[in-house]
Amino acid sequence: MAATVTSPDGRTVVNIGVNGDGKPSYSVSFDTTEIIRPSALGLIFRGGPNLDTGLSIAAETTATSDSTWEQPWGERRVVRDQYNELLVTFEADDPKRRFSVRFRVHDDGLGFRYEVPAQDAFGAVVIDDELTEFRLPVDAMGWWTPARGFNRYEYHTRRLSVVDLTLANTPATFRLANGTHVSLHEAALVNYAGYVLEQRDHGVLKTNLTPWPDGAGVKTATPFVTPWRTIQVADNATGLLNSSLILNLNEPNKLGDVSWVEPGKYIGIWWALHLGEKTWGSGPAHGATTDEAKRYIDFAAEHGFSGVLVEGWNTGWDGNWMENGAVFSFTESYPDFDLQEVAAYALAKGTRLVGHHETSGHISNYESQMNDAFELYGAVGVRQVKTGYVAHGGTLQRIDEDGKLINEWHDGQFAVDHFTRALEAAAQHQISINTHEPVKDTGLRRTYPNWLTREGARGQEYNSAWPLPNRVDHTVNLVYTRMLAGPLDFTPGIFNLQHQGADSNRRVNSTLAHQLALYIVLYSPVQMAADLPRNYLARPDAFQFIKDVPTDWEDSVALAGKAGDFVVFARRDRNSDDWYIGAITDESARQVDVPLDFLEAGQRYTATIYRDGDDAHWESNPLAVEIEQRIVTAADSLTLPLAAGGGAALRLEPQP
Ligand code: NOJ
Repeated sequence: MAATVTSPDGRTVVNIGVNGDGKPSYSVSFDTTEIIRPSALGLIFRGGPNLDTGLSIAAETTATSDSTWEQPWGERRVVRDQYNELLVTFEADDPKRRFSVRFRVHDDGLGFRYEVPAQDAFGAVVIDDELTEFRLPVDAMGWWTPARGFNRYEYHTRRLSVVDLTLANTPATFRLANGTHVSLHEAALVNYAGYVLEQRDHGVLKTNLTPWPDGAGVKTATPFVTPWRTIQVADNATGLLNSSLILNLNEPNKLGDVSWVEPGKYIGIWWALHLGEKTWGSGPAHGATTDEAKRYIDFAAEHGFSGVLVEGWNTGWDGNWMENGAVFSFTESYPDFDLQEVAAYALAKGTRLVGHHETSGHISNYESQMNDAFELYGAVGVRQVKTGYVAHGGTLQRIDEDGKLINEWHDGQFAVDHFTRALEAAAQHQISINTHEPVKDTGLRRTYPNWLTREGARGQEYNSAWPLPNRVDHTVNLVYTRMLAGPLDFTPGIFNLQHQGADSNRRVNSTLAHQLALYIVLYSPVQMAADLPRNYLARPDAFQFIKDVPTDWEDSVALAGKAGDFVVFARRDRNSDDWYIGAITDESARQVDVPLDFLEAGQRYTATIYRDGDDAHWESNPLAVEIEQRIVTAADSLTLPLAAGGGAALRLEPQP
């Protein structure tokens, strides 16, 4: 018993079968090379019966689809969604059970999900285990972050042979011996638990559902569908970066008119807090005062920023705020911060206050105030709120029906459901969300376009006065792993790279040109200019790039790169004919050649190039930047020298 489905270009072939014991499995080949060995499918329910054995294929339904859809904002406006589909229905007798697996095979990879209809054997169910495997070739090389740790997704990337993986977050990316690249992740994570990859035998990676405290994976009822299990496939590393598979597998926009969702750039009372110059809590160094907020608003208005984030405005931060989840108010300001006055001042200056809700992981306290909090912000003209869930992995807090404190994971089903509730509550007040310490991104921005961006990685904040800054190769590793999931609020743009003095290892391990390139390389529809205003005023030449760079794109293309080593992106502005290029490298200096054949033929462009100075180096000479202008056309090719830990950022404007 077997079934087959092939990608539209014929290169990816998925075979589905059932063995002699009635155990279902699938395998995948790409250009006739097996890239996923026969791998298990199935679901285990508490108390049984299960969907794992004694099964036969009862029906196969095929479909093809080729359509395009538009993103309200994004890395590209028009997305093509072309696939071949196969719905395989499995059945078992005694007791009678039935479920289907829907496979969608695109040219850039595939997704499959379980669909379990209502039936006598199952009503309300607890899924204790999902058997889905991805059996990779044992000689695959991989990039991933360790999973289920105290630090959630905030780890440096491991770059090891697949056989050295224990528990890994997704997206996890692999290079196979023949150079084919594969990335494992999921799409449309709703009403379900997130999964991490667990190695069960050499190269045998199994889905491990993040559990509820009682060990259950998912509590649901038939009929239900699971999120899509995704396998992106490409000839090379940049092919993965140019894929829209995750978005294509999500449901269309549920919110209707989302013209109120606004991409843009923001500054904020933020880096000063992380450097220790100011405090979140009250006292003489309180950062979020009305006066300080107005100073930032003046700066934003003068330099064209659409938002000003203010953290520490609400009561509850005093003492160790990481432990203050139960006492935060989301509507009461500290006495030295006048929310109405600050928000109105921002609007009068043509910018907006960006709101902030730090929950410190206490979901119940937040949910009890969430609607009032969004209503308050909405009433004063706030359009974006940064939320925070600072709490160790597995220690989000909720109070259950009996008043008992229960701990949850950031990617367990309870948290997944909370994030959806928060998005829906925010949308009621035309508010968009930027989640820090989030669940991983699975492309839900398509369905909820007010989920603008999120963290879910070691961000720039690790480069502040904290003890262990990001490694030199961290950002380029993010490109090939975390960024495959969706937008990242990394908060680029630190200019004062050695803020604790040249001898301190508490610093930013990159060059200044690398910081500029991050605005192009690490996509987010809202980008922060994270440094202090005074540090921008000290470098007006480099600051000009941050002022110019847009955050909403007509199109994006990864032009060149190697996983974990370097990348070059070109993006076209959605609101003009300007193109931007960003390139970054790891600790190795290199030259990259960038053919400009993506530009409009025959058109002359002024290229403003921000590149590493000739003797720039992330460690010894990070601030050396050369800014030069050239006239270029589509027939030209640029050679960009990237210093160790360096980068290049370019604006290309058509000449009139
Ligand atoms: C962690 C967030 O990542 C950071 O941006 C924020 O400043 C703090 N939490 C406080 O909310």
